[in-house]
Amino acid sequence: MRHKRVVVTHYGGPEVITIIEEDIPIPTAGELRVKVLAAGVSLPDVLAREGVHPETPPVPYTPGWDLVGSVDQLGPSVMDLQLGETVAAMPIHGCYAQYVCVRQGEVVPVPKGLDAAEAVAVVLNYSTAYQMLHRSAKAQRGQRMLIHGASGGVGSAMLQLAKLAGVEMYGTCSEQAASVVRDLGGIPIDYKQSDFVKEIHRLTGEGVDAVFDGIGGDNLWRSRDALREGGRVVTFGFQSKMRAGRMASHSEGRHPFRESAELGGFIVRNWFKSGRKSMVPYSIQWMLRFKPAWFREDLLTLLELLKQGRIKPLIAQRLPLEEARRAHEMLGEGGVLGKIVLLPNG
Ligand SMILES: NC(=O)c1ccc[n+]([C@@H]2O[C@H](COP(=O)([O-])OP(=O)(O)OC[C@H]3O[C@@H](n4cnc5c(N)ncnc54)[C@H](OP(=O)(O)O)[C@@H]3O)[C@@H](O)[C@H]2O)c1
Repeated sequence: MRHKRVVVTHYGGPEVITIIEEDIPIPTAGELRVKVLAAGVSLPDVLAREGVHPETPPVPYTPGWDLVGSVDQLGPSVMDLQLGETVAAMPIHGCYAQYVCVRQGEVVPVPKGLDAAEAVAVVLNYSTAYQMLHRSAKAQRGQRMLIHGASGGVGSAMLQLAKLAGVEMYGTCSEQAASVVRDLGGIPIDYKQSDFVKEIHRLTGEGVDAVFDGIGGDNLWRSRDALREGGRVVTFGFQSKMRAGRMASHSEGRHPFRESAELGGFIVRNWFKSGRKSMVPYSIQWMLRFKPAWFREDLLTLLELLKQGRIKPLIAQRLPLEEARRAHEMLGEGGVLGKIVLLPNG
C-alpha cells in the first residue's frame, strides 16, 4: 500500500517543502503504525525547516511534532493496544504523513469521541502552556501573568489554562486579534502600537508575577521590567530572530544550538541584574526526555479537560497534507489565530 509524506529537502523557505508517495512504513519490534488523522503545524516546525531549531533533523526529513491517529498495525512484541484505537504522540518530527510508525512507549490514549484536530492542538501547544504555567511558574489562584503572542497556538492555549487556574492573564497580540484574546479570558495589549511594559504597570501597578516570553532577545529584558519583585520570566522561544517566517539573518550560518547558547547568556546576565527577578528556560523536548512521566501525566490531564469541554482549542485552519507548504507560509505571514492542523487522511 502507498501513502503520502511531506519532505524537507534542504533548509530554507517554504519552497523546500515537497510531498512524495512511497510504500507505507512497516512497524518494527516495539513500534506501532498510526494512520494519521491530524498533525499539528507550529513555529518550531518553521524554525526546523530554516535549520535553526535545536531539534532540527538532518535533511531530508519529515516535519511535524505531534499527531493524533488510529492504531493501524502492531509491530512484534507490542501489546495492550487495539487496532482502531485513537492515540496521540509527540515524536518531534515525522508527523506530516498519512502513516507513521511510533514506539509504543510514546503513545497516549485519546478518549473516544474527541475531534482529532482539537486533540492534536492539545499535544504540543497545551502541554507547553500547561507545564510552563504549573511546573515552571507554579501558578496560584489570584496571580497576574503575561503571555506574549496570546492569539497564537501556545498563547491561546495559555489563556484558557490560566482562566481555569484562576490566574489573571494579560496577552500581547496584534490589534485585529484583541477580541479573540478577550474571548479567551485574557486582557489584550497591542504589541505593535503600545509599550507593553508601561501598559502592564498602568494596569497592575507593581507588575506581574510571571511573563511567558517566546519572543526572546532584548524582549527578555523588557519582560523582566514588567515583573513585580520576586517575579519570573519563563523564556521559551526566539521569535524575534524571525522576519516573515524566515530567519532574519543567515549571515552567521545555520547553527541549531546558537539560540540555546544565546539564551544561556541572557540567563547568566540576569543573575547580575538588580532586583529579585528570575529567568528560567522552558523546553518541552527536554521535559519529555528528562521527565517523561510528567509529560504523560500532563497530557492525560489535558485530554480529560478537553473531553469535559473545559478547554476548547482554537483551530485556525484544517488543511490537507498537500497544503503543508501553504501552512508554513501562513505561519510566516502572521495573523494566524490559534493552531493550524493538517488532516493527512482527509
Ligand atoms: N520551548 C518550548 O518547548 C516550545 C514549545 C512550543 C512552541 N514554542 C515556541 O513558542 C512560540 C510560539 O509558537 P506557536 O506555534 O504558538 O506560534 P504561532 O501560533 O505562530 O504564534 C505566535 C504568535 O506570536 C505573535 N507575535 C509575533 N511577534 C510578536 C511580538 N514581538 N510580541 C508579541 N507577539 C508576537 C504572533 O502574532 P501576529 O501574527 O499577530 O503578529 C502570533 O500570534 C515560538 O517561539 C515557538 O518556538 C516553544
